[in-house]
Amino acid sequence: MFDADFHRDPYQVFDRLRSQSPVQRVQVSSRGHHAWLITGFAQARAALADPRLSRDTRRFGYLFGNRRDIAPAIQATMLATDPPDHTRLRRLAAQAFTSTAVDRLRPRIQQITDQLLETIAPQGAADLIAEFAVPLPVTVICELLGVPENDRPQLRYWSDTLFTTADATVRDEASHYIADYMTALVASRYHRANRSPAPPGEDGDLLDTLIAARHSGDRLSQEEVVSLAALLVIAGHETTTNLIGNAVLALLLNPDQQAAVATDPDLLAPAIEEFLRYDSPLGIATVRFTSEPVAYGPTVIPAEQIVMICIGAANRDPAYYPAPAALDLARAGGRHGHLAFGHGPHYCLGSVLARAEARIALETLLRRLPELRLDATPEQLVWRPSRMMRGLRTLPVRWHPRPF
Ligand code: HEM
Repeated sequence: MFDADFHRDPYQVFDRLRSQSPVQRVQVSSRGHHAWLITGFAQARAALADPRLSRDTRRFGYLFGNRRDIAPAIQATMLATDPPDHTRLRRLAAQAFTSTAVDRLRPRIQQITDQLLETIAPQGAADLIAEFAVPLPVTVICELLGVPENDRPQLRYWSDTLFTTADATVRDEASHYIADYMTALVASRYHRANRSPAPPGEDGDLLDTLIAARHSGDRLSQEEVVSLAALLVIAGHETTTNLIGNAVLALLLNPDQQAAVATDPDLLAPAIEEFLRYDSPLGIATVRFTSEPVAYGPTVIPAEQIVMICIGAANRDPAYYPAPAALDLARAGGRHGHLAFGHGPHYCLGSVLARAEARIALETLLRRLPELRLDATPEQLVWRPSRMMRGLRTLPVRWHPRPF
């Protein structure tokens, strides 16, 4: 598991595992590490919301059995905490990602999308990952956080390295680069806020909002702002890039459905839910740890075990979806019918933003480059060598060159 063949087509492996048993212990590394893999929809949904499964890496990190030196700000983000710490952090962070907050961002997301397409439209060919699916969400989240433009490629590089390098030392280094960068950025904001606090009612950026966020007299410490900002910059673009890339590929391989959404953009909202289900951008959720024995059906996972919840597998469970391997943009099941944004207390904080970005990106792309086609065979496509992330490394496409 988790070799190049797995990255190309994880679903064969997932299907085989699920048909053997939707919950089972498997070897997950060549060094003999084992974990419990959940591949059934019902079991995955239950596990994602199960309080007996902890996300606390500080408490259970020893289960990895190797000495890792991930920066604390990256290792112990909100996503790696349990209630009540998690509840408190999430309440303070959530204020920035409401539907109203995202609605205010839509015109700017449209503008960034237009600018990117304006550059590539006359070319007639592009790698849609490097030239569109990466820069769009990176620009959105970095502008939100106030990360200067010149620093963004480096941040993106470290973030990608975190997920795709096989070298643990390089991964640890990348985590320290991101943590150090965010520490300096956040410190400069505190300095600025102390010198001249923003006048009441005046909008700062997201970092200012997080620094100022209060709930019932509570606020975030400086370390918590650093950790949250790092989480947001990573979570805020990696998966959205995968969603845009996977969705465009799915359409290019299904021209009848590409034509259907191109003619009727109202189909895009349900279509995006199907893209999220069909090729889930986060294939495997962040690892959990059993704090006590946990039974799912007849299978009991003992205490102190590593659990990997395979979102991509759950979203293709034939017990839940008829013909799960088929892309069906008209599939009934609705918006809440998949687990691509997780479930339970850690449900994706940025789901509204992600849906808005995907909607604007796909709608504009299909309208502006209607003859878009794949410039490679499916076998030639290279997928990111990541266990968690399900996304393309490159997506070569062609169209008739045209001014924007
Ligand atoms: C298509 C795009 C996205 C997908 C598929 C996605 C998926 C997910 C999933 C599955 C989780 C839960 C992980 C787990 O339980 O192990 C999660 C959590 C999270 N996501 Fe997203 N995400 C996306 C975009 C975003 C964006 C744009 C942001 C922020 C701007 C964001 C911020 C977060 C945060 C902060 C968490 C942690 C929430 C918590 O611990 O309570 N995500 N995401």
